[in-house]
Amino acid sequence: MAQVPAFLNDAYMSLEACRISPLDRGFIFGDGVYELIPVYGRKAFCLQQHLVRLARSIEQVRMHNPYTQSQWEDMVENLIQQAISPDLAVYIQVTRGVATRDHGFPESTSPTVFAMANPLMEIPNEQLQKGVALVTVDDIRWQRCDIKVVDLLPNILAKQDALQAGAAEAIMVRDGFALEGSSSNLFVIRKGEVYTHPKDNLILPGITREIILELLGALGLKFHEQAIPENWLYLADELWITSSAREILAATTIDQHTVGDGVPGKLWKDVYALYQQRKVGD
Ligand code: PDD
Repeated sequence: MAQVPAFLNDAYMSLEACRISPLDRGFIFGDGVYELIPVYGRKAFCLQQHLVRLARSIEQVRMHNPYTQSQWEDMVENLIQQAISPDLAVYIQVTRGVATRDHGFPESTSPTVFAMANPLMEIPNEQLQKGVALVTVDDIRWQRCDIKVVDLLPNILAKQDALQAGAAEAIMVRDGFALEGSSSNLFVIRKGEVYTHPKDNLILPGITREIILELLGALGLKFHEQAIPENWLYLADELWITSSAREILAATTIDQHTVGDGVPGKLWKDVYALYQQRKVGD
């Protein structure tokens, strides 16, 4: 495997050289936050938005942000320059640091900062041509899904349920509303209008979601940021999932019901094409 450039506590090294204490609170408690930034042609896509969200996640879990915005930018830029592939997924994780295991915050511990730049996973052509399958699952996550925390157990269990059902993503349903995927946001298209859950504590405010809303505006399409009743999933003309890793994918089945005509829809094609332009133009 080609060397993956990494960063750990102020030093650049290969991923294999990174060593973290088992007492790191990220390991012991999942006491940390993260970001995943896509890089196209050695240019980080929507870097500012990702760094703003990272700073907010750090602040919301009452950790100290060890770097300024420009220090974060430099670190990402350095990793990009060291990587072999021009298309990358830069992963950043910040934990509350290493301390004797005790639930309360440690007094004088500095955060652990880890980052790595892996080659970006290609989106399978078949998923673009044929669309993907979705399943619904009960959302068993906490009440602060707006913070990008490393504790992803409910998301992992949901994703595994999807994979075992032959689907690509699980849609989280809470109190009768369809919120988002295990690692993506959800868009529902009904009667030519687009719906996505509002930015509240029940979803991650996706950067891709925000770009898609901008693109819909540019296309002159009407969109609504509102709670989506679960049964709309079965009445939709189109369903999309969006994320930094998977861009925008059309779903053609949900819980084995066919979505629309059973092929990626016209609106998806338009928005997907605009997204591809935006990736290189940002
Ligand atoms: N996940 N919702 C959840 C729960 C997510 O984990 C993600 C992203 C998104 C989409 O956010 P964005 O468009 O900013 O990537 C929505 C990343 C990719 C991950 O966990 O790897």
